[in-house]
Amino acid sequence: MRSMLKGSIGTIVGETTPLDFKFQINRQVGRGTYVKARADGRDWILAQVEDVKRSNAAYSMSQLGGHQKDYVAVELMIAEARVIGIGENGRLRAPTCPARPGEQVFVADEKLIKSALGLSKGDLYIGLLKGYDIRVELDANSLVQKHCSVLAKTGSGKSYTAAVILEELLDKKVALLIIDPHGEYASMKDPNREGDFSKFKVKPSGYDVVVYTPADMLTNPRADRPFRFEGLNLNARELAKMIPHESSSGQLGLLYEAISALRSETDAYTLEDIIDQVVRSNSKIKWNLVNHLESLMELGIFSGTATPLSDLLRPGKASVIDMTGILPELQSMIVARLLSEVFEARKRRQISPGMVVVEEAHNYIPERGTGNAASTSIVRTIAAEGRKFGLGLMVISQRPARVDKNVISQCNTQIIMRVTNPNDLKALSKGLEGMTSDLEEEIKRLPPGVAMLVSNEIERPVTVAIRPRKSRHGGVSTNIVAREKAPKPGSGERPAKGTARGRSSAPKRKDGDGKGGGILNRVLGARQA
Ligand SMILES: Nc1ncnc2c1ncn2[C@@H]1O[C@H](COP(=O)(O)OP(=O)(O)OP(=O)(O)O)[C@@H](O)[C@H]1O
Ligand SMILES: [Mg+2]
Repeated sequence: MRSMLKGSIGTIVGETTPLDFKFQINRQVGRGTYVKARADGRDWILAQVEDVKRSNAAYSMSQLGGHQKDYVAVELMIAEARVIGIGENGRLRAPTCPARPGEQVFVADEKLIKSALGLSKGDLYIGLLKGYDIRVELDANSLVQKHCSVLAKTGSGKSYTAAVILEELLDKKVALLIIDPHGEYASMKDPNREGDFSKFKVKPSGYDVVVYTPADMLTNPRADRPFRFEGLNLNARELAKMIPHESSSGQLGLLYEAISALRSETDAYTLEDIIDQVVRSNSKIKWNLVNHLESLMELGIFSGTATPLSDLLRPGKASVIDMTGILPELQSMIVARLLSEVFEARKRRQISPGMVVVEEAHNYIPERGTGNAASTSIVRTIAAEGRKFGLGLMVISQRPARVDKNVISQCNTQIIMRVTNPNDLKALSKGLEGMTSDLEEEIKRLPPGVAMLVSNEIERPVTVAIRPRKSRHGGVSTNIVAREKAPKPGSGERPAKGTARGRSSAPKRKDGDGKGGGILNRVLGARQA
């Protein structure tokens, strides 16, 4: 046997191919370690340890009468390494020649890993290569223009990681528009107080964030301003988009009739005028339509001054549309209309370029067969065409299998955190080139705060320990089982206000007569009086 070179961690044994080799290790080497061995000439083969195996033939022999002291001597530790490529002048070329058995293997140096994987070409610092002190940096332009997805099971750190990327984008003066169903992003205003800032070399900082509510400020006191659409002279086509699409054609007909009657009478009408006009109709099905229109009026989204689109996209600033208190169906209609307006305005270069962030994307762009949402079509359009007009997209979801595949497949940067659901894993593998069963195993085992990054800019998927946020994390999970004495059954005690997530999608009604159908009753009462 050749003498060991300094720093050697093992020797290549057995059969090798251009794509993989095994080496007998002489010290502890973990899965995922990047290693190198000499290629022909002066270049290095860069590889990653995929598995480590321990074997001892004597152990089985011992069962046949061998001596115990023999086994220690013949125990073998073998690492299996997958070749990434050959580092040549700071670039990576495809491996063509198998590694030579007998060559010694070393831990790869950071310079080789960095240059070969293309980790530090970008300007968005998202964290450190897991197990190394190597910064992982994405390219801001490419991330925004070619879209990004963050997919993982609930509680695995999606929103946290998304916010890390958003902070970096804000630092690069990108304009952000965030669709925030749970009111988690307002906290970006405040600096973070917890995290290993020195290890990751980041400084806490707050950001310029304006939180809008499509409801009223009482429903959502966290908001800075109401968010409003232009409510004057709504046309039927626009308004039809804001009422549930399963509304009958008879109802839509009524809406068209009412609006054209108003138009012949006046040049300025409001949503309230439209409702009055519909109420005057003799049709028996009018009340359902009145009910929908009344919900819109009650929401207030068409009253007051319309929010200028140019306010929503401002370089280096984030606008958050906080959906707290809005019914899910209305949320997707608001998103549909808002994003259509933004897309059109961007096409005409009337507003800044920027990135649209869709949290809990399965609600706004459900995969066919898992739901319907008014917003699907415009989000697909942005995914397909946004790049031409300087409008990027980030989608975040805990159910990869339930998000529109058309949109996911347009995302060039994919951040995957822990996923265990088999359907979701299957959906991920379908969407990713070069997804192997080993990668799937790795995704199932990712610890919190660690993400797998798949991107065209990076040679192969890498695992990244996400850096601490600079701004405060707003994601909350509330203990459902109280630590104190639980209320006795039948004591009538209600769960504490604000527990669990359901809160944000539960509508808060101002009229709250508790009987349901309150809006309709009130309209009937008011109009018959
Ligand atoms: N990189 C990280 N560093 C430190 N803490 C983290 C990191 N990532 C996640 N966490 C913590 O893990 C918890 C869950 O994270 P987060 O709210 O981002 O999960 P999520 O995947 O968005 O969950 P949900 O599906 O409920 O929206 C948070 O309390 C956060 O503090
Ligand atoms: Mg989240």
